Amino acid sequence: QHTLAIVPAAGIGARMGAGFPKQYLQLGDQTIIGQTLDRLLSHPGIDAVVIALHPDDVWFSKLPQSTHSKIRTVIGGKERADSVLAALDSLTESQDVWALVHDAARPCLHHDDIDRLLASRETFPQGAILAMPVRDTMKRAQANGEIEQTVCRDNLWHALTPQMFPAKALADNIRNATAAGAVVTDEASAMEWAGVHPGLVSGRADNIKVTHPDDLPLAELFIQAQSQ
Ligand code: C5P
Repeated sequence: QHTLAIVPAAGIGARMGAGFPKQYLQLGDQTIIGQTLDRLLSHPGIDAVVIALHPDDVWFSKLPQSTHSKIRTVIGGKERADSVLAALDSLTESQDVWALVHDAARPCLHHDDIDRLLASRETFPQGAILAMPVRDTMKRAQANGEIEQTVCRDNLWHALTPQMFPAKALADNIRNATAAGAVVTDEASAMEWAGVHPGLVSGRADNIKVTHPDDLPLAELFIQAQSQ
């Protein structure tokens, strides 16, 4: 059995306002994406890492990780789902492949989380995602900014990454779901569209997505704490 990580990194990261993709911002002693890739490359259960890049990307080849023997690159697509699909379509493995799709912008991923996700294949043969139970009280808003109602948070989870599925099924379902016009914001939603119920594996709270500049000091703190 072959296990690959797929890292969609073809977004332009407009929300960070940095003038270049957010994953190339500095975090600790290297870039955000460098931290992310190191965590995937150093895990013994992951055989290769396929990274989807923007066609105009001029930064990736400057990273020390770019020449690692486990790294492969593909050109991403218009939406995140297109980038993941491009990576899946590039696979040449003949045996069954499991794909762990992980955001480039989640640099604090801990090996414990990867271990638990990989082990969940026994329980969830159709795939599973890392996730966190919602802790705060949830409100649905009206258009005018007032609260419409409180949403019951029982059984409500935050979807994190990695999200792990058999590569062939994931490719088929992303292709079909996007062709049908479904909103595919994560890999699980493409599987759900096809009637699959992916498993939820409790993830660590430090696996944050770096979306705004404000997130950087927090990510740095988590990375420091993990190395102690
Ligand atoms: O912009 P957002 O934070 O939702 O992007 C999530 C991830 O998907 C990022 O790592 C981004 O680079 C990636 N992405 C991609 N291809 C796109 C859009 C986003 O690989 N067309």
